[in-house]
Amino acid sequence: MPALPLIIDTDTGSDDAVALLLAAASGLGDIRAVTTVAGNVPVAVAARNALISLETAGRTDIPVHLGCDGPMLREASGAPEVHGADGMGDTGLPDPSTAPRDGHAVEALLSYPRRHPGELTLVTLAPLTNIAAALLLDPELFTRYRHVYCMAGAADLVGNVSPTAEFNVWADPEAARIVTRAASADKVTWIGWDVSRKDAVMTPVDQQRLVELGTPMATFTHRINRTVADFARNVTGLAGYDLPDPIAMAVALDPALITEQEQAHVQISVADETRGQLIIDRRVSAPAPNLTLVRRVAEAGFKKLLFDTVAAPAS
Ligand code: BDR
Ligand code: CA
Repeated sequence: MPALPLIIDTDTGSDDAVALLLAAASGLGDIRAVTTVAGNVPVAVAARNALISLETAGRTDIPVHLGCDGPMLREASGAPEVHGADGMGDTGLPDPSTAPRDGHAVEALLSYPRRHPGELTLVTLAPLTNIAAALLLDPELFTRYRHVYCMAGAADLVGNVSPTAEFNVWADPEAARIVTRAASADKVTWIGWDVSRKDAVMTPVDQQRLVELGTPMATFTHRINRTVADFARNVTGLAGYDLPDPIAMAVALDPALITEQEQAHVQISVADETRGQLIIDRRVSAPAPNLTLVRRVAEAGFKKLLFDTVAAPAS
């Protein structure tokens, strides 16, 4: 199977970093560009972390672009309590050997699919600010991509940043609203935090396996997610750290991993108490579905892809 040509939008924190390893080193992805945005960390830190992650995978050639440094209307809100102040578990990683490329992320999101219409898959792992900005400039943008996969939302309304909302949608709900209004269910697939909570939790046994593998990518994966492990223990109550962005990336790279999905009309709440919550209309009278919502993924298949990828020595 030829590798999937990808554009990846990321606010690189510790789980985005693992998603970048999957895309860069599994053999299933062909990353053409990485665009960065504020979210877990400010945009410059996200770009630094993306460059470090790609270097860990042996891919210093992939262009990384800086994008928007805050939501469309709201104050920027990081996630130091989840991913550490540096986004990478406060592990003191050295600076990357490469720097971001010229050109704004939004320009890259617009120009790559114009040069390669219908060929590129867009994977978003972050608040949707860059994507919404690009859609305001080109409302037909999604038609120019082969498919769009977003780590976004919580279709079961169990939130990680509020009782009912998931971080990427909560952080910039107006941007998410622009995205859902431009989306169609045959083109745009969301993999929410519900999937991560059920099918992408790294248990103590999984964590020990990473330690025993001991390769640069396995060690990196384990170390940078240590603050997420604390957050899982104290806040979300999971049996280990979860990997939302990697499982979204795995679905993009291998959609056969999906075991359950639905199509529905989804809107985004921008009201105070329900900020970022998905409003899913499942009535027979609902408007036409605008999103495919992945609801379950084969956990064993996802973890096999992860372990196989990080077990390799970086090229
Ligand atoms: C999302 O928010 C961030 O903490 C993760 O990187 C992921 O993109 C999960 O809600
Ligand atoms: Ca992310």
